[in-house]
Amino acid sequence: MQAVGPMENSLEFASSRLRVAHRIADAYAADYAAVFGAKYTLPALSDTARFPLAGKPGDAAYDAMSAADKDAVTRVFVNAGKAIAAFERTLTAEPSRLDQYVAGDFTALAESEKEALKAFFVVGCAQCHWGPMLSDNAFHDIRFPTGRLDGVADEGASAGIPKLLASEFRAGGSYSDAPGSANYARFTPDAIASLRGKFKTPVLRGVADTGPWGHGGTIDDLHLVAKHYGERGLKDDDPRAVGPVEPWIAPFDDHTQHLFGGLLQSMHATPRP
Ligand code: HEC
Repeated sequence: MQAVGPMENSLEFASSRLRVAHRIADAYAADYAAVFGAKYTLPALSDTARFPLAGKPGDAAYDAMSAADKDAVTRVFVNAGKAIAAFERTLTAEPSRLDQYVAGDFTALAESEKEALKAFFVVGCAQCHWGPMLSDNAFHDIRFPTGRLDGVADEGASAGIPKLLASEFRAGGSYSDAPGSANYARFTPDAIASLRGKFKTPVLRGVADTGPWGHGGTIDDLHLVAKHYGERGLKDDDPRAVGPVEPWIAPFDDHTQHLFGGLLQSMHATPRP
């Protein structure tokens, strides 16, 4: 769902599944057959009366197609998304200085970085940023500002989950390779409401290379991310954020803010060849 979303989003590629399917047929037919040929063949896309050059659900050209042809086009689109997801999994990084330190090389971090790492545990960062990816893969409210031009706060997962449940591309959907793997029953209305303002904990591996930071992309300096945490997020009455900040983020002083800024700036990821 994540990989195909941008293609049909009007603010991103503003493309459509028919266009993507035609592009695959025109430029990547042999590659497609090599990867998916055992199970799927490309539909007769050269017949543009049957398969218009562009269109997605809600567009007249797409909506007029037969159910079987819609499914065939959507299958190509989904497989393109699966290929992207599979490619993304091959993007891995060389061990960082933090990895070297954890593996026992106590010279890999500078003294100030060691001090910051200790504070990372004392202050509570490691409650959420832990494990090899420095993420708990869960959702929390940190009250980072919105990146929306109208300044309205982002609702976070409470707005995202209903979109997930409505999507034909979710893990439990008919295009899934593992239907039944997802547990959607846990998303009761109360559970969804409790996710207001919460975002998934981002991976901190290579965080120095992935700015600007925060879900709105509004923070362009890691020292300011640390300062934001030190002040426990935007104030309760600030309209750019919603929901209460998580209780286990303790306020901390300028010195610690500065240490965290330095530690985060040292977190580079060198791509594996
Ligand atoms: C309660 C869980 C939690 C704790 C504790 C926590 N974080 Fe986070 N962290 C998150 C979440 C969730 C986000 C994403 C917030 C957003 O974008 O709205 C985030 C975002 C970040 C980012 C930005 C990453 C990016 O790619 O944009 C950095 C850097 C960061 N945290 C470092 C820290 C540091 C340093 C601490 C300790 C002071 C800390 N975090 C404590 C959950 C947590």
